[in-house]
Amino acid sequence: MTPRCCIIGTGSAVPERILSNAELESIVETSDEWITRRTGIKARRIASNLRPETSTDLGTLAARKALEMAHTAPENLDMIVVGTVTPDQQFPSTACMIQKEINATRAAAFDVSAGCSGFLYALAIVDNAVRAGTCRHALVAGVERLSSIVNWQDRSTCVLLADGAGAVIIEAHTGSGGIRSAHIRSDGNFGELLYARYGNLNPPQPLEDVDIKPFHLIMEGNRLFKRAVNFLTSIAKDALKSNGLAAADIALMIPHQANIRIIEALAKNLGIPMQRVYTNVHKYGNTSSASIPIALDEAHRAGLLKSGQYVLLVTFGAGLTWASVLLKWSI
Ligand code: ACO
Repeated sequence: MTPRCCIIGTGSAVPERILSNAELESIVETSDEWITRRTGIKARRIASNLRPETSTDLGTLAARKALEMAHTAPENLDMIVVGTVTPDQQFPSTACMIQKEINATRAAAFDVSAGCSGFLYALAIVDNAVRAGTCRHALVAGVERLSSIVNWQDRSTCVLLADGAGAVIIEAHTGSGGIRSAHIRSDGNFGELLYARYGNLNPPQPLEDVDIKPFHLIMEGNRLFKRAVNFLTSIAKDALKSNGLAAADIALMIPHQANIRIIEALAKNLGIPMQRVYTNVHKYGNTSSASIPIALDEAHRAGLLKSGQYVLLVTFGAGLTWASVLLKWSI
């Protein structure tokens, strides 16, 4: 029988510093009222250089909590896959840096760059490896320090983005629980809607470009908003259809936490009442790849997920990328 990819532990970590909307009013021309009405965000967590809050630090803490819940020793891990667009270094990967911290000596470790869809892309890769029989235990994480690439003079983005990490431990099982489907999609034609110039494309020329600009994030929020709602709806419907399920069968939907209006529009399109949609965007803002695993960890630790229930994870992000994972909760 083909093994399924089951989540057996969850963990998350966020920086200590809370940045409120009121504080942002003193940084850019904005207001608590505007941010709350247009996004649902009231506060977000921002990493500090004075504390161990790098992407690797936060990812390591989340991983340790997930391992503890799963009662799994790090040396049992066959794979570590980390979704991130804000690694601490260009290389080695954040996954390898976390591997070193947790001493997961046997694992193959690598990062996935898929914007805010990074965690679900990573989960889909591990799901394939589990079903192929090449992986029994894995750590899958979403880890971001978006504050490091935010332009703090751009009010249309700096009020949205934040830092954090979430992780899950995967185990191969032959029961009915676990991941039932994973859909991942992308369309590079929409790359200009959200990007950060970083890498080797037109790098500053040594001795010539003295005025080097920061590689901050640039976003066309309004056009992105409309695409996000359409892509999220269609890939969530793909998940339901491929499993022969209806919206009423979903006990909890955990969408990417970018904007409460996007989440509400998605829920309405699918016919899922907001009572069955998990949201924490009000306290963490948009933590990109980290948003779904943080929400999953919170929902599980709050007792909102019962064994045997169907959970729908759905996301979109820079690329553009979008993805859904439907699973039967099995902890
Ligand atoms: N405070 C006050 N006013 C603002 C702010 C702000 N922080 N930001 C923008 N405005 C102004 C604009 O300047 C504009 O003013 P104008 O009408 O005088 O030109 C007005 O508000 C409306 O701007 P819009 O961009 O049309 O506002 P919109 O309702 O679309 O909300 C928002 C903007 C919140 C960015 C929304 O478009 C959104 O959430 N889009 C999706 C963003 C997203 O999810 N990004 C993450 C993708 S995932 C990843 O990979 C990181």
